[in-house]
Amino acid sequence: MIIGIAAVDRKGAIGKGGKLPWHYSADMKFFRETTTGHAVVMGRKTWLTIGKPLKNRLNIVLSRDTDIEPQESLVVFSDIESVLSFNKSLSTDLFVIGGAQIYEAFREHIEKWIITEVPLTVQGADAFMPKGYLEGFEVVDSKFLDDLRTLSFASTSNKSEN
Ligand SMILES: NC(=O)c1ccc[n+]([C@@H]2O[C@H](COP(=O)([O-])OP(=O)(O)OC[C@H]3O[C@@H](n4cnc5c(N)ncnc54)[C@H](OP(=O)(O)O)[C@@H]3O)[C@@H](O)[C@H]2O)c1
Repeated sequence: MIIGIAAVDRKGAIGKGGKLPWHYSADMKFFRETTTGHAVVMGRKTWLTIGKPLKNRLNIVLSRDTDIEPQESLVVFSDIESVLSFNKSLSTDLFVIGGAQIYEAFREHIEKWIITEVPLTVQGADAFMPKGYLEGFEVVDSKFLDDLRTLSFASTSNKSEN
């Protein structure tokens, strides 16, 4: 399954100045536990902020420029179609982990969203979720991570590609 996962503020913001504008350890732990053992796909800018492959996950980076050093657990693709085709050979889920350009690019392929609601309105944010990204989705699960709430949304149409 292709699953989008993000932490989003009250106005849909996800980033500022190339970084996450907050730090919530409960959400980081939730992200790690949810994605471990699976594949994750991210844009080059998000890759730069993370700086090294996420442990125990197959890391896929999207970049039209190929100057990213190959390393263990890291695969680089230059277009979405190659990622979708590669995904068919995977026996794990594929988590779309951002940033804004990558959420937009994978939007029509995402079958489930896992969204942590960040109780802030970040001033000067410059990266946002795609407008209306939850249209056609319904809440199927909700849990609290300390004082943050995480919601899971499933598509109301069958988007499965496999
Ligand atoms: N709150 C959250 O959950 C969350 C999660 C992740 C990231 N973020 C934040 O989001 C921000 C980064 O987002 P962003 O939108 O600026 O950057 P991004 O999506 O991480 O990366 C953009 C880069 O990805 C590559 N790319 C994008 N679309 C592509 C396509 N269709 N085919 C091939 N390559 C493609 C391009 O790389 P090249 O330029 O190399 O071609 C592009 O410059 C940061 O602030 C980060 O902290 C937040």
